[in-house]
Amino acid sequence: MKVLVATSKPFAKVAVDGIREVIEGAGYELALLEKYTEKAALLAAVADADAIIIRSDIIDAEVFDAAKQLKIVVRAGAGYDNVDLASATAHGVCVMNTPGQNANAVAELVAGLMVYAVRNFYNGTSGIELLGKKLGIHAFGNVGRNVARIAKGFGMEVYAFDAYCPKEVIEAAGVHAVDNVEDMYKTCQFISLHLPATDETKNSIGKKLVSLMPKGAVLVNSARKEIINEEELIKLMQEREDLKFVSDIAPAAATKFEELFADRYFATPKKMGAQTAEANINAGIAAANQIVGFFKDGCTKFMVNR
Ligand code: 3PG
Repeated sequence: MKVLVATSKPFAKVAVDGIREVIEGAGYELALLEKYTEKAALLAAVADADAIIIRSDIIDAEVFDAAKQLKIVVRAGAGYDNVDLASATAHGVCVMNTPGQNANAVAELVAGLMVYAVRNFYNGTSGIELLGKKLGIHAFGNVGRNVARIAKGFGMEVYAFDAYCPKEVIEAAGVHAVDNVEDMYKTCQFISLHLPATDETKNSIGKKLVSLMPKGAVLVNSARKEIINEEELIKLMQEREDLKFVSDIAPAAATKFEELFADRYFATPKKMGAQTAEANINAGIAAANQIVGFFKDGCTKFMVNR
């Protein structure tokens, strides 16, 4: 049984060591394809793999066609929009994610991005504080919940909107549950986005919502670039000089954002919310354990293409 770790953005070494221990401990072989830049390398590496552990690596129909022995793909992380689920199902491959395992890492980065924004990107000028400010969390999943916990430590007043999460769950976390998403954007100077990229959410964050935000608005995106309507956001930022946009995912129009809003826009050079040793260990080892559980016990917990 061969398990391939295919990560164009590699895990920390300590996480790979942990994955190896689990996989080899179960009597399987571990193969590594790290920092690859060409799809051809991935296509060659998957040819004899029974299982693959990936991150944001694109697993499309061509990869499934090339992976003749493949039975399971585990996305070590939360979002699985990088995997063609229909093709996986057509090829009889089980796809899983590892929800929650990297959530704190992403949430800490969000806190850092908020501080960076309100301190004027550390340019030495006078900024503002987070204490007492209102933060709206758009989608209250694992990352959103961790952002809420950390933001409360800053003394922020936290609100959340999630069409799929019961109000009681949000309130139990000491967060104001908002019935109507527009109300949250009207109320909160800070908005942190935690929506997955789906047909429903793509392009959904644009003028209609962001224009409602109060003066001095800060929009933080640590989710996916596709959820933002970039054309509308650019237009709005041109109209509103008070609006800042900080992101862990460079927008498609990154160059335009940089040129137009040098002092109000920042994106990490590479998505790095989940780039901590702890998150790599948690998500990587969870992925390895899920593969062993799948082969040894038929466990399909966390399967996303049922
Ligand atoms: C996720 O969906 O888990 C995060 O976006 C992290 O992605 P990464 O593993 O590519 O850093």
